[in-house]
Amino acid sequence: MNMRILVIGAGMVGSTSASSIAARGLGTVFLHDVVEDLALGRAMDINHSLPSSSSDSSVIGCNTIQEAGRADIVVITAGMARKAGMTRLDLLRHNAAVITSLAPVLASQCPDARVLLVTNPVDVLTWHLKGLCPAMRIMGLGCSLDMVRLRHFIARASGVSVESVGAMVIGTHDDNMIPLVKRASLAGIPATSVLRPEDMPDIIQRTKTAGSAIVNSMKTHSGHYAAGGVISLIVESMVLDRGMVFPVSVCLNGEYGYRDVCLSLPCIIDAEGVRQVVEMGLDEQEKGLLEICARSIREQREILRTWEGSSCR
Ligand code: 2OP
Repeated sequence: MNMRILVIGAGMVGSTSASSIAARGLGTVFLHDVVEDLALGRAMDINHSLPSSSSDSSVIGCNTIQEAGRADIVVITAGMARKAGMTRLDLLRHNAAVITSLAPVLASQCPDARVLLVTNPVDVLTWHLKGLCPAMRIMGLGCSLDMVRLRHFIARASGVSVESVGAMVIGTHDDNMIPLVKRASLAGIPATSVLRPEDMPDIIQRTKTAGSAIVNSMKTHSGHYAAGGVISLIVESMVLDRGMVFPVSVCLNGEYGYRDVCLSLPCIIDAEGVRQVVEMGLDEQEKGLLEICARSIREQREILRTWEGSSCR
């Protein structure tokens, strides 16, 4: 079955995701942006790149979401990206309003779609979108990007192929993220067998600051290659029903002892979206760090609630 994959937002993250999804041959990609004709130009350029990937997928640029019809999968990258000096929370007000405006369109046009929200601050916006569209299958990109960054830094420090590195980051996609470097493995062997203890703090720090380091270096926009790559892998796990594990952001219903908050936790992703939130036994220190993430999400949730009736929700 040819999947209809709608990518909303044709900025750097949206267009890189569309390009990567199309290069993997996962279906027909509908790329939309509110800036007139931007998505059409991006689509033409991406289509011209596909022969180099031997992919028969195509990307269709759309000036309206309606042109995409009933999508099977929706990737939302719309909204403002961070600029140098900005935190992800600075984006909250603007991007919450963007999500508020998209929600009714998605709920009426593609109520059965699986939705991957990428827009930052992603964890609280996942909660926001789920509140607006409770019947829809919604997940946020969460710490998935941080997970691939952690794998990269472990591979570099250990001199092992990144393919052999398994690692997890949980919590929230912000400064409170929890890179579980002590639990990382090299093909099933604890990574601590190869990594030196003095490497650990640096790996954690680099993982936590990678997004800011990129944005501070590029000044006017944030990173997009790594995001596009991991987004396309999550889409692949849904399209091909692969059951890959990513720390996506999900609204919890008792898992890890939490309700009514979205946190990034390891999830099995298949054709249905999130098949299962995997409960891993956290130690006391990890539980304490997860609680800090949950507290910060509750605070952001309350900020959103105070705006209720004016601009969001
Ligand atoms: C990042 O970490 C943009 O939040 C994104 O690069």
